[in-house]
Amino acid sequence: MTTSDIDFSERTVIVAGGTSGINLGVARNFADAGANVGVIGRSHEKIDSAVRFLKEAGVSAHGFSADVRDYAKVTEAFEMFNAKFGEFDVLVSGAAGNFPARAMDMSSNGFAAVMNIDLLGSYHVLRAAYPYLRKPGGSVINISAPQSFIPMILQSHVCAAKAGVDMLTRTLAMEWGSEGIRVNSIVPGPIQDTEGMKRLAPTPQHIDEVTESVPLKRLGNTDDIGKAAMFLSSPMADYITGAVIPVDGGWSLSGVTGLMEKLDS
Ligand code: NAP
Ligand code: COA
Repeated sequence: MTTSDIDFSERTVIVAGGTSGINLGVARNFADAGANVGVIGRSHEKIDSAVRFLKEAGVSAHGFSADVRDYAKVTEAFEMFNAKFGEFDVLVSGAAGNFPARAMDMSSNGFAAVMNIDLLGSYHVLRAAYPYLRKPGGSVINISAPQSFIPMILQSHVCAAKAGVDMLTRTLAMEWGSEGIRVNSIVPGPIQDTEGMKRLAPTPQHIDEVTESVPLKRLGNTDDIGKAAMFLSSPMADYITGAVIPVDGGWSLSGVTGLMEKLDS
């Protein structure tokens, strides 16, 4: 499958946390396939730059500044996107925060920051978007992480949050299935040139070690995740819901051995 095999013309795709990195790459893949795109993030500067980048695909693109921890603001964002675009065909929820720290080296507020962005924020995004999701036919994709099912030191907050995100995927797949809304998670592996990788594999040596630990012997890129998101939102995946799908070159098969231990040493 190439991106040109899938046509999202006249479709609307909203990406929460879509102003940089993996999620912006996903948004651009959908835009390249013809979709009109809305992105949410906090920084106005990042929103402006993302919207310019998305418009290069020749589609309509809009951004809205909202912290996903603020339910009222997230609701405002979706009201605006609905007024611009009508119903949403695809919702991608990927806003997240991460920093490496042992449980005893972070405060309650540090743990809560990640829980509230990743888990409560995902709930806010899905709940606030629900009235505008196409029924039947809507596709929701949560961007998870290997921490969801692989315990890692320095990542207690992210492991707890992303495990919750994947349970949200499964439970909402059950609650919304009868209305024809599918809900799935994509679990990216190590994706090159992203903020997440900078935080967890900060040196060239770390990156080499991670690359070597991936069975396919390369880091992923944002198109790898974009292609999976488009497949999951296409008719080819119309019987897939509640799935948690690693797109990671096989990285998680080995339990991502030693990544955080190396960072800790
Ligand atoms: P990134 O570039 O930092 O992207 C995070 C996005 O979320 C940005 O648009 C950011 O914009 C937004 N965001 C952060 N906090 C927010 C908040 N409170 N409210 C609204 N928006 C917020 O990170 P990335 O590395 O590409 O990661 C993207 C996703 O992939 C995350 O869900 C991450 O857990 C997952 N993931 C990444 C990797 C990897 O290798 N990078 C691996 C596995 C999973 P603002 O900062 O302007 O708000
Ligand atoms: N170790 C321990 N605690 C840390 C920390 C670290 N490396 N970095 C932040 N914290 C703590 C802060 O000290 C604060 O706790 P305190 O008030 O008790 O001091 C708490 O986390 C919140 O920090 P703050 O900077 O106020 O939060 P924020 O809401 O502005 O930002 C973060 C949230 C911390 C997750 C920030 O890193 C962020 O915005 N990340 C988004 C981008 C990102 O992480 N991308 C990768 C995605 S995989």
